[in-house]
Amino acid sequence: MSTAVQSRTARRRWWWSGWGLVALGAAATTAYFVPPYLVGGSRVPDIDRETAGYYTSLVIHAVPAGTALITGPLQFVARIRIRYPRVHRALGYVYLISIVGASAAGAYSAAVTKSGFALQVAFFVLIAAWLYTAAKAFTTIRRGDVQLHRIWMVRNYSLTFAAVTLRLYQVPLIALMNSVDWLEYREVYTVSAWLSLLGNVLVTEYFIVQRTLAPLARRRKEAPVGPSTVGVS
Ligand code: HEM
Repeated sequence: MSTAVQSRTARRRWWWSGWGLVALGAAATTAYFVPPYLVGGSRVPDIDRETAGYYTSLVIHAVPAGTALITGPLQFVARIRIRYPRVHRALGYVYLISIVGASAAGAYSAAVTKSGFALQVAFFVLIAAWLYTAAKAFTTIRRGDVQLHRIWMVRNYSLTFAAVTLRLYQVPLIALMNSVDWLEYREVYTVSAWLSLLGNVLVTEYFIVQRTLAPLARRRKEAPVGPSTVGVS
């Protein structure tokens, strides 16, 4: 096997391993946290049922948010995109509509939550970024700009995936909370929300630069600059 074929096979193996982990995290988070809301329950102990509309807004938020979380990974599979473009397009609409619905309901939950101002700010930043990246993904593909559409979708899904990383950060932080008496659940929740937002954005931007922008810049540097390209903006 040639070195080029070997490195392509290795890259593909890495890609599928990463994809598998993301899809598994998305499916497990949705399966564990969303169904209780369909039967009037919640995984959150002593959930606030006093604040008007809060619990209902969580139900309306959780169902489309879970839908976006599990449909997202399918959109990145090239085989589905190429062989079944209609499936890709239909799922794309389901994904985008889910995000708009989940954002609207989540905005209400964030406005009335009793979890504190720092957490509210994190959620509003997340909602703004979620809607903005979804709008950019939509407008770029309407213009036929596939490469940019892909980048905006990666950015958007990394924000959707904050629902998974938020709950992962909570595991060691809750263990810490149980062993010290100065830490409260509200603080654990707030720190996890900010970490999931910043962590996901940083990791995603790193991969976008490494995998897309750096090779592009290298190719540009290697290509001879002809008179026709000079001064053209
Ligand atoms: C990334 C954008 C998202 C934003 C801005 C967001 C926002 C929120 C807000 C504000 C709350 C209420 C928190 C509180 O009252 O303290 C909440 C709760 C919740 N969210 Fe999201 N969310 C997002 C994504 C997701 C996703 C993708 C899922 C999919 C599983 C999800 C599932 C839930 C669930 C189940 C709850 C209820 C709390 C619980 O049972 O853990 N959210 N979200």
